[in-house]
Amino acid sequence: MPEAPFPTSEAPPNPALRALLARASVPPRQLHDPAPDAAALSLAVSAAARAPDHGWLRPWRFVGIQGEARAAFGELLAQSLKAREPETTEARLDLERAKPLRAPLVVAAGAVLRAHSKIPAWEQEATASAGIMNFLNALDSMGFGCCWLSSGALQDPAIKAALGFAEADRLLGWIYVGTPEAERPRPERPAPDGFWRDWQPA
Ligand SMILES: Cc1cc2nc3c(=O)[nH]c(=O)nc-3n(C[C@H](O)[C@H](O)[C@H](O)COP(=O)(O)O)c2cc1C
Repeated sequence: MPEAPFPTSEAPPNPALRALLARASVPPRQLHDPAPDAAALSLAVSAAARAPDHGWLRPWRFVGIQGEARAAFGELLAQSLKAREPETTEARLDLERAKPLRAPLVVAAGAVLRAHSKIPAWEQEATASAGIMNFLNALDSMGFGCCWLSSGALQDPAIKAALGFAEADRLLGWIYVGTPEAERPRPERPAPDGFWRDWQPA
C-alpha cells in the first residue's frame, strides 16, 4: 500500500475537532452521579439527529433507564439470560441483575426499521449507529463519560418489547452514561495513515 501523504497530526485549533479527537470510552463502574440532565440529553439526541439519514426515516431511538428503573431492568436482563441459557448459575444471574446499577444512566439505543422502505435495513441501522456515535461524542464533549456495550439481551424479543421496540426493530447497544470519577484516560490511537489509501485505476 502506498504511504499516504499524511502530515504528523498536531492539536487542531478547532474545538469541535479537538473534542472528536479526544473522545474515549469510560468503563461503567467509573461513571457516577450526576447523569446528564434533560437539557444535556436533549443536546445529545439533537446531535444524534444530525446523522446522515437516507430517506429521512429518523430510525434512531434512545430509551433512558435511570434511578429505581435500573433495578427493574436488571431483573429483566437476568430473566433474559436465564431464558437464553437455562443452566446459568445464580451467581452469574446476580451479576447480570446488577449490571444496570453500575452507572447512573443506561440508555437502550436502537433503530426503528421500516420493512417496506426502498432504503435497505442495513442503511437504516447504519444511520442509527451513526446517530449513537454523535450521541456519545456530544456527551463526551460536555464532560460526561459513556460506554457502548452489547449483550445477548439485545436480540431478545422480550427485552425489545419491554423497552417499547417492535420485534423487527434492532437494539444496537446499551450506552452507560455518567460523570467520570476522574480525568478519564484518553489512550493514544493508531496513526491515521494506516487506514487510508488512494485508489488508482489498474
Ligand atoms: C456496537 C458495539 C458494541 C460493543 N460492545 C462491547 C461489549 O459488550 N463489551 C466491551 O467491552 N466493549 C464493547 N464495545 C467497545 C466499547 O464501547 C469501547 O469502544 C471499547 O472499550 C474501546 O474503548 P474506546 O471507545 O475508548 O476505544 C462495543 C462497541 C460497539 C460499537
